[in-house]
Formats: sequence, structure tokens, C-alpha cells
Amino acid sequence: MTSTGAPVSAPSGSAPPNWVDQTHPLGRLINALLAVEPLRRLLFLQARQVIIRTAERRGIAWRARREQLQREAEPLLEAVHNPTTVAPAYYQARFHAYQQGNLCWAAACEAEQATDAMALRVWPAEQLQPEQAQQRLRAAIFQAIEPSLAGPVRDALDLGCSVGVSTQALVGWLRQRQQQPAAVSGLDLSPQMLAVARVRDGDGLVSAWHHAAAEATGLPDASFDLITLQFVCHELPADATRAVLAEAARLLRPGGVIAWWIRIPNPP
Ligand SMILES: C[S@@+](CC[C@H](N)C(=O)[O-])C[C@H]1O[C@@H](n2cnc3c(N)ncnc32)[C@H](O)[C@@H]1O
Repeated sequence: MTSTGAPVSAPSGSAPPNWVDQTHPLGRLINALLAVEPLRRLLFLQARQVIIRTAERRGIAWRARREQLQREAEPLLEAVHNPTTVAPAYYQARFHAYQQGNLCWAAACEAEQATDAMALRVWPAEQLQPEQAQQRLRAAIFQAIEPSLAGPVRDALDLGCSVGVSTQALVGWLRQRQQQPAAVSGLDLSPQMLAVARVRDGDGLVSAWHHAAAEATGLPDASFDLITLQFVCHELPADATRAVLAEAARLLRPGGVIAWWIRIPNPP
């Protein structure tokens, strides 16, 4: 973190469950089962179906929305794709249920639905609509940032913006917070996600969508007063997180704020 900027980091929540903890017998058993490729595929397929069915029961039109987004985003791919951007090896590995990680249409066209499902899981006891849960989640993030901001934000950057849910929420919050207009940009390594972001930002309220690595954005020094990393760092290896934060510090104006949110909060 720079000496001039103020970091804001959310509470990291409770310890991970036993089934991901490699020091726990259950975690080791699950890992051994997942190492058998046909079994892994079967388990992932079943888990995926459960996730989709649960989301659709909660009002997220998972499959219909996926088809609509892909139809509308495909023609925009060339416009968002920066051919000089190189994805690091960790980013090209299998991730979540996707063989090509985030570099595929399936991941991009299901990201909005997955983000809404994540927000709903924060308040399992309440019958919220997906957009209500999403608003609450983002409001909590921005509420945590507010005390660190000294004045109006002129330029904000959302690193790891995915399909723009976090970026558009940032635009909405800044519009409510201040009279002075703010230019908000999103940056991500997945061109498919950025194409979907462009579709979702039909009114063009986001100033720019950058296809670049957050470790090496190519953007000018000291060009932003607020840089957010919402649910990004938990997906990165530790050395990549360090490189991303160093790059964010380079992009930050004196007195600016870098805010990173690591994990979803536990249900109250
Ligand atoms: C879980 S999503 C977060 C989405 C969004 N910020 C939100 O809060 O809804 C993480 C995003 O970070 C992006 N990402 C991961 N590593 C990155 C990197 N090194 N540079 C740029 N984007 C990266 C992924 O492509 C993905 O879209």
C-alpha cells in the first residue's frame, strides 16, 4: 500500500469449511476423489446442476440469461479484446467448473447469475429478490469504503470487474454520493467477460472497459482516486496479489484509496 493512500479491507469472515482444508481428513479425502478425472467431472456436473436449479428456484433465470448474454456479447468480442494482453499461467488453468477458467463464454455468460446467487447466500433466511441481495451486498462494500475517502472521487477503477456487476454498482453509488461526476472504468483479463459487461452496460455509464492484467494494466501513473478489487484477490496466487496491489499503488493518486473485499460475509 502506498504511504499516501488508505487501504480498506473487509473482515475476512470465518475459517474455510473442513472439506477444503488439506490438514483435515475430510479435505484430504475430497481432494483424492477429485484427482480421479471421470469422478471429478461427474461430481462437478452434479454440483453445477444443483447450483443452477437452486438459483432458478430463487428467481435467477440462469439458463435463459446465459443464452441471451452470449447471443448479444459475441459480436462485441473483437472490440473489447486487446491482442497484446497476455494471461498469466495461473489464469489459464481450469477454474470453478470451467475447463478454460474465465477465458470462455460459459464462464462469462454465467457470471452475472453466479454473482446474484452468491449475494442471495449471504441472507439465506430472507426471501430477497436477487437484485435486492446484490444491492445490499454492494452497499455494505461501499459503506466500508466511505470513511476512508477524503472528498469527491474523480476517477475510479474496478480491477477484476468481470461482467461489470461491481463496476455498475460503483457507478450507481458514486452518483448518489457526490454532485461531481466520476469517471468509472472496469478492467479484467477475460475478453468474454468484458464483452458481456458491455452488453450489461447498455447505457454506457461506465467510461471504459480495459482488457488487461491487473498486475500490468498499462494505465498511467497516479490516474485514479479510488481503486476497488471486489472478490478478486481470493482467486489469485499470493505473488499475483502482491503484484496487483503494487500496480494499484502505482495507479493511485496521492490521498487515494485502494479497497479490496476478499470473501462474502457470513450470514448475520
Ligand atoms: C469473482 S470475479 C469478481 C467479479 C466482480 N469484481 C464482482 O465483484 O462481481 C473475479 C474476476 O477477476 C478477474 N481476474 C482474475 N485475475 C485477474 C488478473 N490478474 N487481472 C485482471 N482480472 C483478473 C477474473 O477474470 C474475474 O472476472
